[in-house]
Amino acid sequence: MAGVSFRNITKVFGKDVKAVNNLNLEIKDGEFMVLVGPSGCGKTTALRMIAGLEESTDGDLMIGETRVNDVPPKDRDIAMVFQNYALYPHMTVYENISFGLRLRELGGLFWQLTHAAEAKKVKESIDARVQEAAKMLSIEHLLQRRPKELSGGQRQRVALGRAIVRKPKVFLMDEPLSNLDAKLRIQTRAELVKLHRQLNVTTIYVTHDQVEAMTMGQRIAVMKDGLLQQCDTAEKVYNEPANMFVAGFIGSPPMNFMDAKVENTAGKFMVNCDDFSLPLKPGHAAEKLVGQAVKLGIRPEAIFDAAMNNPIPTTPENTITAEVDVLEPLGHQYIAYLKVGDHSFLASLDAGTKIQIGTNAKFALNLDSLHIFHPETGEAIR
Ligand SMILES: Nc1ncnc2c1ncn2[C@@H]1O[C@H](COP(=O)(O)OP(=O)(O)O)[C@@H](O)[C@H]1O
Ligand SMILES: [Mg+2]
Repeated sequence: MAGVSFRNITKVFGKDVKAVNNLNLEIKDGEFMVLVGPSGCGKTTALRMIAGLEESTDGDLMIGETRVNDVPPKDRDIAMVFQNYALYPHMTVYENISFGLRLRELGGLFWQLTHAAEAKKVKESIDARVQEAAKMLSIEHLLQRRPKELSGGQRQRVALGRAIVRKPKVFLMDEPLSNLDAKLRIQTRAELVKLHRQLNVTTIYVTHDQVEAMTMGQRIAVMKDGLLQQCDTAEKVYNEPANMFVAGFIGSPPMNFMDAKVENTAGKFMVNCDDFSLPLKPGHAAEKLVGQAVKLGIRPEAIFDAAMNNPIPTTPENTITAEVDVLEPLGHQYIAYLKVGDHSFLASLDAGTKIQIGTNAKFALNLDSLHIFHPETGEAIR
């Protein structure tokens, strides 16, 4: 087992496509790390550099204590699982899973004939590992089938089995669940987390799906345009996003942003959005920005129907009146599209809400979770 470190890693394609830009990231031994970000942000490139399928332009890549920049892929002791599981169609599941091991650990036919006893031992050990992996993935009953006789989910398990039996130092997974339907994706997601708990192997998992990232990662590394934006636990990234990009990318529906200005109204620090004004938490770093423009961020989950029983109290300070533009029922909640003056924003409301489209209603905002950002850099101010 081993951790993985990117140290000032840059990858440039052609003349000037910086797929990965000066990446510094330490993945701990045994950790489940998720790289997440929109398409094209450099996730796959970062993963392929660990695998040795892509050479870095600059920086040091470490697996454990070893600098692996010049170590060929086959000697890196990693196993990769892709979105396209690429099973051999003419082989059974058993053969697919054992193929790599047989290739690596068994000599050729001549060796097998001249070293019969040794060959038998190797075959038995391979068999034991295939059976163990199959059991772990609940595919023991499928071992004699061919890939075309399997469902998408079962095929993905076989691909996982092929990676597991190698007992690698590091697992790399590039959007391995993308080809599964929504229900199976959620189920397999949980199984992968469980599997990681059992195997405890360092795992780097790539996805563009922020829900997948939040639910699976012990830590999440959010990337944009080849640049690491923030790396922390799901809770931290959600509650204390480093900048507007992370704030808007993590969470669903996304955070609402509004132009605002910091004011000192009779000794009280406020963020003023023209149509309404909210008090800053005492001691907030934005108190130093009186008179300056900022971006105010409010998550849809931080907005409550003031007529209901809420986890936060309704006070004159935290309550605004808004027009209900659209209401989308989701069963357990409503997504409300609200309007105050020129501002439009989303609120996730409890399903018990009695608000009506086209009417005005009062909404209470959780003042503890207001986010303030620098209007140009987008950096969080807190
Ligand atoms: N082999 C390549 N040649 C040229 N550009 C590439 C190559 N692979 C990736 N890129 C570019 O690098 C950037 C990052 O790509 P990629 O790592 O695949 O992103 P992601 O996996 O996050 O979608 C993109 O702009 C992509 O077009
Ligand atoms: Mg990719």
